[in-house]
Formats: sequence, structure tokens, C-alpha cells
Amino acid sequence: MFIENFKVESPNVKYTESEIHSVYDYQTTELVHEEKNGTFQWTVKPKTVKYEFKTDVHVPKLGVMLVGWGGNNGSALTGGVIANREGISWATKDKVQQANYFGSLTQASTIRVGSFNGEEIYAPFKSILPMVNPDDVVFGGWDISNMNLADAMARAKVFDIDLQKQLRPYMESMVPLPGIYDPDFIAANQGSRANNVIKGTKKEQIDQIVKDIREFKENNKVDKVVVLWTANTERYSSVAVGLNDTMENLFASVDRNEAEISPSTLYAIASILENVPFINGSPQNTFVPGGGKICVHSTLHSVGVGSHWSYVLIENLLGLIDLAIKRNTLIGGDDFKSGQTKMKSVLVDFLVGAGIKPTSIVSYNHLGNNDGMNLSAPQTFRSKEISKSNVVDDMVSSNAILYEPGEHPDHVVVIKYVPYVGDSKRAMDEYTSEIFMGGRNTIVLHNTCEDSLLAAPIILDLVLLAELSTRIQLKAEGEGKFHSFHPVATILSYLTKAPLVNSLEASFHSVKIAPKDVFLEQLLEDACSHYVYSNNLKGGVPPGTPVVNALSKQRAMLENILRACVGLAPENNMILEYK
Ligand code: NAI
Repeated sequence: MFIENFKVESPNVKYTESEIHSVYDYQTTELVHEEKNGTFQWTVKPKTVKYEFKTDVHVPKLGVMLVGWGGNNGSALTGGVIANREGISWATKDKVQQANYFGSLTQASTIRVGSFNGEEIYAPFKSILPMVNPDDVVFGGWDISNMNLADAMARAKVFDIDLQKQLRPYMESMVPLPGIYDPDFIAANQGSRANNVIKGTKKEQIDQIVKDIREFKENNKVDKVVVLWTANTERYSSVAVGLNDTMENLFASVDRNEAEISPSTLYAIASILENVPFINGSPQNTFVPGGGKICVHSTLHSVGVGSHWSYVLIENLLGLIDLAIKRNTLIGGDDFKSGQTKMKSVLVDFLVGAGIKPTSIVSYNHLGNNDGMNLSAPQTFRSKEISKSNVVDDMVSSNAILYEPGEHPDHVVVIKYVPYVGDSKRAMDEYTSEIFMGGRNTIVLHNTCEDSLLAAPIILDLVLLAELSTRIQLKAEGEGKFHSFHPVATILSYLTKAPLVNSLEASFHSVKIAPKDVFLEQLLEDACSHYVYSNNLKGGVPPGTPVVNALSKQRAMLENILRACVGLAPENNMILEYK
């Protein structure tokens, strides 16, 4: 059964005119270990931490500024929202199609709220907390091509022609603002599009974006703005000490007009300076974290005779994340998780969770839209390859029965540009796994991903959830004051391929240490204490928050946090009432 909305009645929840206040028992565990005869003995202690959540119920008028507004995604999202708002229907060869929000977590999915007379009761996801209605969103943004949105929609070849005809009058007057163009960061084949660009130094370009955001806010009388990058995939920027490793160095590099500071980083700086959330929907390292500073020895454990394994953290240099933390402005990314990767983060989770060992994952894509053309250059393809590559890491490392430390399935990603298929991307995957008693299992998938029709609802979810999360405050028992979520919005990770993680969280790598290599162990131990110290200095983020890619875990995190805000327990699927 389906209900449109609900209210929670509990001594732990208070709804007032201005906020929803909830008190929530967070059940977690604490692990302790001691070494006995060379092996570790682990104890798990359940613990409960009291949290309070406060959600501002005033839903603002929201402006969304898209970087790459005139692209396939930008025009599909804008047209799709207008079609929904205006109740447009159109004739296809099969039927009369109504506008809808299929593929949007917030608009088209449900949550289970309980059972009534033996029947499961579901409510819309968007009914958990007050969210912006997409009908009320004002769209705007930048593009290096000056084509108006109606022509851009025709160029994209995403919507049926009857729908395009009906949308045209609404979209003709929408013209993107000039964008920051740097041919060094995207494929050379994009050059002919670039007729709408901001001139000047990098500093002047940032100033222009700041001005654009302010004017957009003012002209459209919106209370809040979210900026989201859905422009071409850029190549990776180099990350270097002194160039972009800290906020100060980043600003100094901008002042020097340093060539290596990418357009996406400039838009992000401008947005953060305006305290406007910035989301990166493409794979490049806009926030310039990373840089191979090996610094932490985290845990040691023995495996087998005569070997010690140690985990070493590659510390993320902070880059732009530093600025976001200092200004407490939400950032999120990277790269929309729409088609092939979404499947992967479900399938590998299922396989590893079932005790089956994926040993080879081979993914081919071909697509014929402008994104595909841009990705045909090796340097932009490389960005995509990286963001697609790490998605199985957390699932593999969750099961040491299947995988030796450091062992990993072969994982290969190929992308080819095939103009004829247009926006209808094909993703073909072969998963080979080892099963019982040395057997082999091979799964082959063919996935036709209508690229922009999958991405547009995800963009909508990202901006709506980003806005919502800026209205939530929390505090754990013992914490004096309420605070917002950490600026790095891991709560959005369900929607992105390579979830950006809190400042110093980074990839763990295992290294092998000979049993007697006391020197190396000591070195790592020293590095560890240094790391924790500097981490505390840089915003007090708990070190080593895990990157979660498994889709069901990401969805559960998001849903359960929103449920906590109205004092509901996490969905535990135990259904004990019927046992
Ligand atoms: P598109 O090529 O149709 O649109 C990109 C737009 O950005 C173009 O109109 C281009 O003129 C504009 N642009 C390029 N550089 C710019 C800059 N510096 N400033 C302002 N505008 C700029 O691409 P599409 O299909 O809309 O995809 C957009 C991005 O989203 C791509 O990076 C793609 O990799 C990423 N993405 C798309 C997914 C999907 O469509 N399913 C999934 C995951 C990521």
C-alpha cells in the first residue's frame, strides 16, 4: 500500500514551525584487540551514541546553475523539469507518453515505513523530510557554446521530436552565460564549440563567476544556489606541493595565473567563495586531492608464517577541499553514477556478498554523443578510466576469505566513440568469478544506457539532496554545539561513481614487511602519529572514514540518515513481527 506522506509521533521527535528536532540512538560497535602469541584477539563491543538532529523545515526557492548547461545532460534536465512542471505529454510510436521522473531517487522511489494489517506500507522518498519541489527550481548556468537551450536540445537528439516541439517555446530564451574555456584541459575536438568564453586571467575568471552567481541570485530572487559541473570531462590536473596542495598555495597559483589550474577548479573556487555548494559530475580531479604522500601505518596483522602485512595510507593533499572545509561549504562528487558503474556496484556487491570471487571484470563502452567525442582523447579518457576503476575496491577488501591482502580482480575499462549510437550508450561487461571447488562462473551483460536520460534525474537528486543536507544540523552526546555535515558530502555517494571522501581519507595500500624489518615498522609508526596530529589540525575529521561504493549500502546510508532526522530507526529488514 502507498501513502503520500506521514508524520512521526514519538517522544523523541518534535515538529515545530521552523524545525524538526529528533533524538536518536545510534547503535554502533567499538573494536579492541590484543596480541597473544603473535596473533590478534578481537573483541567487538556494541555501543550506543545519542545523537540529536535538527532540520530547518523552511524550503528555500532554489536556483541551480549548471556548468555545461547547453550539453546533453543540461538540456535534458532543463527540458525534463519543464515538461513535468507543465504536465506535457507527447506522442511516440508506441503511446502517448507523460512526463515523469523515473530514475530519480527523490522523486520516483519509495521507502518502507511499516506494516498495517499485514500489508507493507510505502511512502515517497521525498516525504521523509521537506525538500525543494523540482517545479520550483530556477535553472541557469554557463556554457562555452552560446547555443540557446532549445537549439541545444535539438543538437543533443535526446528527446522525441514531438516533445522537443512543445518544449521549444520555453527554452528558446534560455541562453548560457559565457564559460571558462581552456583547450588544454578538454579534447581538441571541442574547439569548434567554444564561441562563448570568459576572457582574462584566472583571477578575473573567478571574479566573473562570482559576479554571475550573485546576479543570477538577484535576478531570479532565489534564496539559495547550487552549482553543478556537467561540462566536458577534463584531463587530470597535476597535484603538486606548492601548486594546489593547500588553500593558500591554490590562491597563490591563481594569482600567478598558473596554467595547471583547470576551469572546473576555478568554478569550484568561485562557488565556495560564495558559500554555494559545488558538485562535480565528471571524473576529473576538480578538488585536486591526492598526491602520493605515504604517511600512515594503520593496522598490522599477521597472515601466515613469516610475513607481516601493513596498511599504508596515501595521504590526500588537501587542495580545494581545504578551502571548502575552512568555509564550511558543501562539495560533492565525482562523476555521476548512471549506467555501467551502477550495475557494477550492485553486481560485485552481490557476488562478493554471496562468497563468490570475481577474478576478472572487463567493461566495454561505446557511445556517440559529444561526451564520447571528448573522451576519445587519451588524456580525458584517462580521467574516466580512473573513476570507473576503483569502484569494486571496498567490496573486494571486505572479504579476506576470498582475497589475499593486496589481491585484486583484473579490472579493465575500454571506451570507444561510435557516432551512430549517439546518446544511446552501450555498456558490455564480462564478470568471471571463481566458484565452489575451482569452478568458473561467467556473467555477460549488455546494457543500453540512454545516457542523458539516466544522468538528468541523478543531477536533480544531487542538487535537491545537497540543498537538503545544508538544512540539517547534528550533534553527538558530549558535543557542545550543533554542526552541519562535514563539507565533503559523502551522503551523496549513492549518486556518484568515485565518491569524494573527507579530507584526509584516502586509499589504503598494503605493503609486505619482513618479520624482522623493525626499521620500516618504526618508520610507519612514526608517520602514523604525525598523520593523526596533522589531521586534527586540519579540521578534526576522523581519519580513515571508509569509501563505500556498494550501491545498497550507499542508499541505506542516505535513507537511514534522513530517517534518523525524524526519529525513525534504520530499515533493518528483520520483520520480527512475523517470525
Ligand atoms: P556534453 O558534451 O553534451 O555537454 C557538455 C557541455 O559542456 C557542452 O555543451 C560544452 O560546450 C560545455 N563545456 C565544456 N567545457 C566547458 C566549460 N569549461 N565551461 C562551461 N561549459 C563547458 O556532455 P554530457 O553528455 O552532457 O555529459 C556531461 C558530463 O557529464 C561529461 O563530463 C560526462 O562524462 C559526465 N557524465 C555523464 C554521464 C551520463 O550522461 N550518463 C554519466 C557520468 C558522467
